[in-house]
Amino acid sequence: MTSDSEDAEYTARVLPGNAQFSAPASLTLLEAALLDGVVLPSSCRNGTCRACMSLLHSGSVRYRIEWPGLSLDEKDDGYILPCVACPTSDVVFEPIGPNRAG
Ligand code: FES
Repeated sequence: MTSDSEDAEYTARVLPGNAQFSAPASLTLLEAALLDGVVLPSSCRNGTCRACMSLLHSGSVRYRIEWPGLSLDEKDDGYILPCVACPTSDVVFEPIGPNRAG
């Protein structure tokens, strides 16, 4: 599998629990989840409201938009916005909502 290809297809797992869906590199994690019938929190779907904010436990993503509504610190801490994040590897993430602790 070539990791940068738009044709690549990865596996995404949602914590807690074991919901799993196939996540093509060409779709955002939110789009891929919905296609597979996995319900994730979301609202704006354009990377501003942070309703979908999640902690990325493993894997990597790239963003469709230049500056998703995350601070640099949040990015460094591993937070992602699945509505605008496309996978670049298998990923495991945990939706935590807009009001993260700490
Ligand atoms: S749904 Fe609004 S930032 Fe993801």
